Amino acid sequence: MSINSEINKRKTFAIISHPDAGKTTLTEKLLLFSGAIQIAGAVKSNKIKKTAASDFLEIEKQRGISVSTSVLTFNYKEQIINLLDTPGHKDFAEDTYRTLTAVDSVILVVDCVKGVEEQTEKLMQVCRMRNTPVIIFINKLDREGRDPIELLDELEAKLSIRVRPLTFPLGMGFQFRGVYNLHKNLFAFYKANKTRVEEVEKEFNGIDDPGLDEEFRDDADKLRNDIKLIDGIYEEFSIEEYQKGNLAPVFFGSAINNFGIRELLDTFVEIAPPPLKRETTTGFISPNDEKFSGFVFKIHANLDPKHRDRIAFLRVCSGKFERNKFYNHVRLKRELKFANPASFMAQSKSLLETAYPGDVIGLYDSGLFKIGDTLTEGENFMFKGIPRFSPEVFRIVRSTDPFKTKQFEKGIEYLTDEGLAQLFTQNLGNRKVIGVVGELQFEVLKYRLLNEYGASVEFLPMPAYKAFWLQYNDKEDINDLVRFRSQNLYNDKGGALVYIAETEYMFKLIQEKNPKVKFVSSVEHNDQTIEMDSVA
Ligand code: G4P
Repeated sequence: MSINSEINKRKTFAIISHPDAGKTTLTEKLLLFSGAIQIAGAVKSNKIKKTAASDFLEIEKQRGISVSTSVLTFNYKEQIINLLDTPGHKDFAEDTYRTLTAVDSVILVVDCVKGVEEQTEKLMQVCRMRNTPVIIFINKLDREGRDPIELLDELEAKLSIRVRPLTFPLGMGFQFRGVYNLHKNLFAFYKANKTRVEEVEKEFNGIDDPGLDEEFRDDADKLRNDIKLIDGIYEEFSIEEYQKGNLAPVFFGSAINNFGIRELLDTFVEIAPPPLKRETTTGFISPNDEKFSGFVFKIHANLDPKHRDRIAFLRVCSGKFERNKFYNHVRLKRELKFANPASFMAQSKSLLETAYPGDVIGLYDSGLFKIGDTLTEGENFMFKGIPRFSPEVFRIVRSTDPFKTKQFEKGIEYLTDEGLAQLFTQNLGNRKVIGVVGELQFEVLKYRLLNEYGASVEFLPMPAYKAFWLQYNDKEDINDLVRFRSQNLYNDKGGALVYIAETEYMFKLIQEKNPKVKFVSSVEHNDQTIEMDSVA
């Protein structure tokens, strides 16, 4: 089969949502519909309900045994669908942002009772930055939710994207009758059923069909008015606008009751883009480029202490990946071959011989990979666009056992390679600072450093507002900072110079005093301008 037909068969996407909106439930239902799993309850939630490290570690242990939860590959209508899992906890949001760099589209789940929530907005910002095509699924229509038109308005206002409902509900909660498919003029009747898929649909001859009155009596006019209103307010759906990331089609349903899923999945396979071209340090690489290339977007440690190996997840971007063939690890300038690459079917992990653009492969890694690393068939370029944000919480990390300094150094180095946390080392001192998205990460790090590396550590609080990567043209530009603020200057792991501001007020003051320096709070892995600006 030609590489082009392999590419066109593939769709790689992620489901994103604020915790509890129904991501896990929808994932499971998509797998049920596609036939990849037979019974409900097979997909384990990766949510951490009690926000405790022990819960996280328990979940991670289970995931370690079955890493398949990181990528779920299934077939539907002769397509190969790669669903990339994202963590359910907000303290792991950065992991989600990185995973979003490896997909070609997303499905966003919104709870109809809660509407757009904090995490929904943040995740969508990342999608908007990359113009990732988005399909929106408004979930839990079996509950008394907000007015659908009001929800659509909120989506447009808060997510800065145009929306176009493709189905529209009649009633909600106890009054929920079902959804009207605006394109096919079909009404799908809602029936609560958590275990089975029962579909009852009826076709109408447009919304003026008198059949609607027979079926819905007094509600028929409400449905007509709603649909006229929708057609009046919202532009026609256009696949091109959706694929450019400008327009999001919207579906309504109830994931737990298997309702609205088929429409979602059928539309997804019809309109979601196949693997797309990607930007590198030397230009764009198209998926049908003959030579293989790909990048690591996630590193997953296996918490089984008997197996220290990690798995690096690589997204194939072009060409064909083959087992046991030598590839160029661009950062290390080393040729590597992989004897046991893994692919992930819905329930299991298996040995992989070949992989194509859009696929995600698991490479056993003994410490050679970092997030953003690129493999090629010889060329020297790195994939761009893998984001790194300023952490939200900072702590000074110290080894509490002077005889275990080596283990401490190694542990910190390895664990921060996974992207769990960022390490900053004081430019003119030895102080090591760990920055994370949420407090839970400190507990996880402490536990893992002790259990995997035998290093006991303590985390000390420090006043910190944000980390800013410094961009400047001339070393003179940072003279003032180096002279008066050296205790706030750090190097990140790539050697780039970072200013950690104590407070927002101090940051503004320092920024005013150093007009020639650009302070940036998010950068990209593999951003050469940053890495080269190091003064360390
Ligand atoms: P998440 O991965 O986005 O965090 O959400 P998840 O699927 O775990 O769903 C969160 C809660 O919402 C779950 O209830 C789930 O059963 C419920 N849910 C999902 N879809 C629907 C729906 O269409 N209607 C209603 N009414 N509820 C839905 P839970 O009580 O937290 O967990 P569980 O005990 O049911 O597993």
